[in-house]
Amino acid sequence: MPQFLKANENHICQYSDVSSTTRALVAEEPLTVLPEYARIPIVFTVDRVLDVAARDDNPGRFALSERRLDVPYDKDYDRIAGQGPLEWARRFDLSKWAFFTARLADRIVGGASVAFDTPQLTLVEERRDLAVLWDIRVAPSARRQGVGTALFETAEAWARRRGCRELEIETQNTNAQACRFYERQGCELRAVHRAAYPALPDEIQLLWSKQIPR
Ligand SMILES: CC(C)(COP(=O)(O)OP(=O)(O)OC[C@H]1O[C@@H](n2cnc3c(N)ncnc32)[C@H](O)[C@@H]1OP(=O)(O)O)[C@@H](O)C(=O)NCCC(=O)NCCS
Repeated sequence: MPQFLKANENHICQYSDVSSTTRALVAEEPLTVLPEYARIPIVFTVDRVLDVAARDDNPGRFALSERRLDVPYDKDYDRIAGQGPLEWARRFDLSKWAFFTARLADRIVGGASVAFDTPQLTLVEERRDLAVLWDIRVAPSARRQGVGTALFETAEAWARRRGCRELEIETQNTNAQACRFYERQGCELRAVHRAAYPALPDEIQLLWSKQIPR
């Protein structure tokens, strides 16, 4: 989830997929889903952080080691000013973004948003073969049941259909669960920026990347 980076599709279920790993139903949604999407909690407990070191044996690659915290705390990206889903339309042109929800037993338990060809978004680097997984969230009670995987796979498939070769994702070393999740999805840690968040000097920005096969 980015923290400080500087056509709306009016149809429901344009794309849906019943994942093999879960019974979650993932659907593409219009922009108007955002108020409902914003109600999916993104909060997680930081009980460990990842220490990052360059790998001597593999230049350009990083080794991550977990360090338990004596005092865990909750982190909620939506509580950072300007960060929640209801703020996105004020910050970005969302006309080329995609929004997905995941439902279990008719209840929305997860969401993912993909940014594509968005000039205001520095992560996109003006590349039209790169999409950014801007947000992915699963309600705490539905985590570790494959819902996140179903959302990720759907987002990746959407990016592939747009001609993208790469999916990029920003997170932090304080979000070990997201890092483990991205590793599991086949992402590689491409860049590490230790001073990316001046207001949060203890947090390290991690940029993950998934190569999208054709
Ligand atoms: C990250 C997140 C979306 C993952 O969703 P999920 O539905 O729990 O993920 P899945 O069940 O599909 O997990 C797939 C695999 O990812 C890894 N993984 C997921 N959560 C993990 C955790 N807490 N610790 C370690 N590995 C984890 C595991 O390998 C898991 O497979 P397994 O359960 O068979 O071991 C979810 O934890 C979440 O919403 N977190 C809070 C919001 C957030 O941080 N979003 C990302 C912002 S960058």
